[in-house]
Amino acid sequence: MRVLVTGGAGYIGSHTCVALTEKGFEPVVFDNFCNASPEAIRRVEGIVGRNIPVIEGDVRNRRALLDAIESHGIEAVIHFAALKSVGESVAHPLSYFDNNITGTITLLDAMQGASVHRLVFSSSATVYGQAERVPATEDSALSVTNPYGRTKLVMEQLIGDLCTAQPAFGAMILRYFNPVGAHPSGRIGEDPKGIPNNLMPYIAQVAVGRRDRLGIFGNDWPTADGTGVRDFIHVMDLAHAHVAALRGLDQHKGATVLNIGTGKGTSVLELVRAFESASGRQVPYAFAERRPGDVAELWADPTRAEQVLGWRAEHGIERMCEDTWRWQSAYPEGYA
Ligand code: NAD
Ligand code: UD1
Repeated sequence: MRVLVTGGAGYIGSHTCVALTEKGFEPVVFDNFCNASPEAIRRVEGIVGRNIPVIEGDVRNRRALLDAIESHGIEAVIHFAALKSVGESVAHPLSYFDNNITGTITLLDAMQGASVHRLVFSSSATVYGQAERVPATEDSALSVTNPYGRTKLVMEQLIGDLCTAQPAFGAMILRYFNPVGAHPSGRIGEDPKGIPNNLMPYIAQVAVGRRDRLGIFGNDWPTADGTGVRDFIHVMDLAHAHVAALRGLDQHKGATVLNIGTGKGTSVLELVRAFESASGRQVPYAFAERRPGDVAELWADPTRAEQVLGWRAEHGIERMCEDTWRWQSAYPEGYA
C-alpha cells in the first residue's frame, strides 16, 4: 500500500517511514521542511536500504496534494504535518490555526477529491488538559489550555464529522502521550530547532555538553517526588502504532480515537536518573518555577489501542534513554 506521509521528514514521521517500509508499505513523504531537514529522509533511506519519494509541498496547497496522490497512486494518508510548539501557538495563534486547521481541511478535501478514504491522524494527549483522573481514557473529559491544543481538538472534530457524513472515510485518531527516543541505529532522532521545549531533548543536550543544566519546572507538584509525571513512549513503538492503525482501518469504519502511551507514569527526576545511567554522564539540574499551563501528572490508559489494533508499547524508560543517547552522542548537533 502506498501511503502519503505528510510531515514525513519530521521527528515522528521519519521513524514511521522506517517502520512502514520494514512492514512492506511504501511511504511517500510530503513535507514543506519548515521544521525538518531533507537529511532525515536520506538517513531513513540508508536504514531501510531503498529510496523514498519526497515531495516538497505545503498541506495548504490542494493542487500539490492532488498531484502527489494521483502521481503516486496513494491509497492512505498519515497526517503528521503540523506546527507543535505550545509557547509559539500562544504568541501566534493565527499561524497555528492556518497551518494546522486549514492544512487539515485542505488535505481532507484533496483526499475526498481523489477518493482516498483511509487516514491516520496525529493527535495529542494535550486534548485532556488537566485530566480529572489518571490514567486518562479516550472517554475522559477534553479541555484545551492553549491554541496548539485547540487546533488538535478542532482537527479531531472535523475528521469525526467528515467520517459521519461520508461513511467511506475511515480514520484512526491517535492521541500520543510523550514521544521520546530514537531509532536504535542512532542515525535518526529528535532534532529540535533552538532551545528544546520538551524534557528529553533538553536532558540529552545537557548530557552531551550543549547546555549547562536542566531547569526542572517545579518540585512542589502533588506527585511522589514533587516533579511532573508523564507517560513517555518510545518513538519506534509509536511508529509501529501507525502501521497497526493503517492495518486496522479496513476493519474499523468511522473515526476511532486511541490513546498511544505505555500506561506508566515516570517523573522528571526518574527520567533524569535513567538518562544518567544510560549515558554514563551527569545531568546537572536546578529546580525552577512551574511552567505555566503544565499539569502535575498525566498518563494513558492504552487498553483500547490493544483491543482495537492488537498494539502495545514494548520499550521501557531505559531503552528510551539508551536510544536517545546513541543518537545524541553520535550527532551532537543533530542533522546540522
Ligand atoms: P515535527 O515538527 O518534527 O514534524 C512535523 C513535520 O511537519 C515537519 O517535518 C514539518 O516540516 C512538517 N510541516 C509542518 N507544517 C507543514 C505544512 N504546512 N505542510 C507540509 N509540511 C509541514 O513534529 P513531530 O514531533 O514529528 O510531530 C508530528 C505530529 O505529531 C504533529 O502533528 C504533532 O503535533 C504531533 N504530536 C507530537 C508530539 C511530540 O511530542 N513530538 C506529541 C503529540 C502530538
Ligand atoms: C508538552 C506540551 C504539550 C505537547 C507535548 C508534546 C506544554 C504545556 N505541553 O507536553 O501540549 O503535546 O509537549 O510536544 O508545553 N520539564 C522540565 N524542564 C524542561 C522541560 C520540561 O522540568 O526543560 C518538565 C515539564 O514541566 C513536565 C515534563 O518535564 O513536567 C514533560 O514536559 P514536556 O516534555 O514539555 O512535555 P509535556 O509538558 O507533557
